Amino acid sequence: MAKRIDVSGLSAYYGAHKAIDDISMTVEPRSVTAFIGPSGCGKSTFLRTLNRMHEVTPGGRVEGKVMLDDENLYGSHVDPVAVRRTVGMVFQRPNPFPTMSIFDNVAAGLRLNGKYKKSQLSEIVERSLKGANLWNEVKDRLNKPGSGLSGGQQQRLCIARAIAVEPDVLLMDEPCSALDPISTLAIEDLIGELKERFTIVIVTHNMQQAARVSDRTAFFNLAAVGQPGKLIELDDTERIFSNPSVQATEDYISGRFG
Ligand SMILES: Nc1ncnc2c1ncn2[C@@H]1O[C@H](COP(=O)(O)OP(=O)(O)OP(=O)(O)O)[C@@H](O)[C@H]1O
Ligand SMILES: [Mg+2]
Repeated sequence: MAKRIDVSGLSAYYGAHKAIDDISMTVEPRSVTAFIGPSGCGKSTFLRTLNRMHEVTPGGRVEGKVMLDDENLYGSHVDPVAVRRTVGMVFQRPNPFPTMSIFDNVAAGLRLNGKYKKSQLSEIVERSLKGANLWNEVKDRLNKPGSGLSGGQQQRLCIARAIAVEPDVLLMDEPCSALDPISTLAIEDLIGELKERFTIVIVTHNMQQAARVSDRTAFFNLAAVGQPGKLIELDDTERIFSNPSVQATEDYISGRFG
């Protein structure tokens, strides 16, 4: 079930280096929010704080609060592994488990939970592959390795794997940057369908993509190299791309820097 994300006063560090500073924002359920901003401003770092993956990096540390509906993901009794199941992630490079079959790639997360019968697994795998708009292309070769698919198919396989465990939120870090334009459009269409069921956050360097897929857009920026990234502006995508409130946002989207 899609849930609201409510971030307050969030900073993240790599050792002594503060990568993002004091970020607060709300992401509505069943919406797509795009993160844009120049390289190094902390988009990926911030994204990874939303499912407690940042702290997996040695020296990775987070201050502040991330509420998922009424649960603080950084609460003292919260299991980070459970959080990563609830808040799924799709990465820049499609990363199917190379030796696993297409079927097993999608079933991998479910098997970790260990409570599904074979028939249930088949049902969920089919539903997830359909949800990722991949079923028709792979239904006759479910036992073939996932690594034998094209890049765009592999990325949809990773999306199928992510949605198979029914997360509340889907985080995507430049999910199309390694894909050709046709596969990119397929993923963008898919994102439009998935937002009916999930809360989606997508990092992208492609301004047209942000404008096409997102309801809201967040612009991040750095005051100077070595300074932490900050959230500069978050607003309806239409407004960000037509009439942003901050000059730096305008400069960035019109390609004057970054
Ligand atoms: N594993 C790491 N160890 C130390 N510093 C890191 C690590 N990953 C990122 N950083 C630093 O944190 C800051 C933010 O990086 P991040 O990758 O979040 O930026 P980004 O906005 O996603 O950039 P890009 O658009 O290039 O992907 C940068 O200064 C970066 O050098
Ligand atoms: Mg990044």
